[in-house]
Amino acid sequence: MKQPSKNRILILGASGFIGKSLYKELQSYFDTYGTYCSNVAEYASNHAYFRYCVEEDELASILEKVKPSVVISALRGDFKEQLKAHSVLAKYVQEHHFCKLLFLSSANVFDGKFDLPSYESDKPLAESRYGKFKIAVERMLSEQIPAQTTILRLPIVLGVQSPRIAQLRQSIKHKASFEVFPNLTISLTTADKIAQQVHYIISKKLDGIYHLASTDMVHHEDLFREITSKLGDKTPIFKSVYRSNDDSYLAILQKKNKLPQQYRITVAEVIDDCTLKEEIITLKNQL
Ligand SMILES: NC(=O)c1ccc[n+]([C@@H]2O[C@H](COP(=O)([O-])OP(=O)(O)OC[C@H]3O[C@@H](n4cnc5c(N)ncnc54)[C@H](OP(=O)(O)O)[C@@H]3O)[C@@H](O)[C@H]2O)c1
Repeated sequence: MKQPSKNRILILGASGFIGKSLYKELQSYFDTYGTYCSNVAEYASNHAYFRYCVEEDELASILEKVKPSVVISALRGDFKEQLKAHSVLAKYVQEHHFCKLLFLSSANVFDGKFDLPSYESDKPLAESRYGKFKIAVERMLSEQIPAQTTILRLPIVLGVQSPRIAQLRQSIKHKASFEVFPNLTISLTTADKIAQQVHYIISKKLDGIYHLASTDMVHHEDLFREITSKLGDKTPIFKSVYRSNDDSYLAILQKKNKLPQQYRITVAEVIDDCTLKEEIITLKNQL
């Protein structure tokens, strides 16, 4: 099949927290389409969006309509059905030699080993169903379409619009409990930084495995205590949860595939993103 002159991008899960940032970043530069599932009210009348629920709908018909040259998988949904959908995707990509697939995976592919941070070439080992599911998709894509697959492993994703920060704000407001893991060390990022990194990866046609995480790490409890102190004087009830007596890691870092400096992020920058923008929104609301 003839290669389209301009990249046509399909974001599966474009109505989600990360999908929205990806769509916002990419739509000015590429012919960009997306899917939504439950968020009918916001997207049903938008011609760039297709309704797609992994348990009910056929992905092949959307692929046939859009004919994407890049597919970004930012989905949630039933794991078994997602695995089937990714097999359909792999077949489409295999049959269209110009097509690339970017799969949003997770640091949870390493949640069965806690002793050290993990790098791109480390062998995944998961304990959770979620982590095992992500490993299964990574493996299938790497075996079937290795040269056309880019695996993007994400750590915890924060930012002023993130569900986790919204939950923290609610816990502060209602003086409710908020779980922290005092001996867990993590890396982290923001949805906006992921979107910039994905834009760069598409433009440079990069493949392989990328750890789109901060270049440094932080203790889970310290992180949320610092964000809380920057959000104001009030605090939630911090509930300390210990998985073991030893220090443990759910942290992915970069060794092999490092992006240029302007596409990297630090813990301090993520904290700023969760709190400085918050101050601006509060100020705007007060005007
Ligand atoms: N957020 C994180 O901290 C994080 C960390 C590591 C990896 N990831 C990965 O990044 C990807 C995006 O995560 P996110 O946090 O942006 O998720 P999200 O906010 O829950 O968005 C999920 C997207 O998938 C769609 N979706 C949900 N259920 C579906 C179903 N049954 N069938 C088809 N589509 C469905 C949603 O559509 P509607 O909203 O319209 O229902 C939405 O567009 C996921 O693959 C996740 O595993 C996220």
